[in-house]
Amino acid sequence: MPKVLVAPSILASDFSRLGEEIHEVEQAGADWIHCDIMDGHFVDNISFGPAIVGFVRKQTKLPLDVHLMIEHADHYVPRFVDAGANSITVHVEPEAKHDVGKTLRQIRDAKCRVGLTLNPETDFKLVEPFMDEIDMLLVMTVHPGFGGQSFRPEQMEKVKRAAEWNRSRPQKIDIEVDGGINPETARVSIENGANVLVAGTSIFRAGDYAKAIRDLRNE
Ligand code: DX5
Ligand code: ZN
Repeated sequence: MPKVLVAPSILASDFSRLGEEIHEVEQAGADWIHCDIMDGHFVDNISFGPAIVGFVRKQTKLPLDVHLMIEHADHYVPRFVDAGANSITVHVEPEAKHDVGKTLRQIRDAKCRVGLTLNPETDFKLVEPFMDEIDMLLVMTVHPGFGGQSFRPEQMEKVKRAAEWNRSRPQKIDIEVDGGINPETARVSIENGANVLVAGTSIFRAGDYAKAIRDLRNE
């Protein structure tokens, strides 16, 4: 079994002490830092942009996992690359208004890891044509836009399909889940084949970050 990676989403952190929050989750055993970028168009919320990602970059050596919930991702990818992203994940839905294949190549050419994601309502069929082009599939387990929502177990069908795809190919991709991840839903996700857990609320609202991260890994 591959090691389960934990990626705290700083969306749920205390922004007034963002630097310390990042140091604390790094000390607590986080593997990646997940940055949720929202534009108020593709999702109904606005979070932060490349300047904050650049600040996060200066706080940690951990890989920065940038999740773009935005329209026209192709226009903004270079700014997140310059800000220090290690992986960039874009949405497959037509509402994201970009040429998905082209944006994935753009991310690859920028030497970042290539991620693709789909909303709970989106059919797995939409990501299938791109499975050979990506390093990671992110299965959204809530509708994106806000932290603190409940996990949608029916999305495990997509995790299973990605895991099946991995079994049939020599080149394995990471399978990441995002939204409503707590120790119980982490266990369900891992059982179905996920190996990267994004968690905001269950880490940053916990008193002890190290314990919260261990509990997510079911250690
Ligand atoms: C959803 C974001 C998530 C979210 C996770 O819009 O993509 O990364 O912040 O937060 P929790 O863990 O609180 O569901
Ligand atoms: Zn996210």
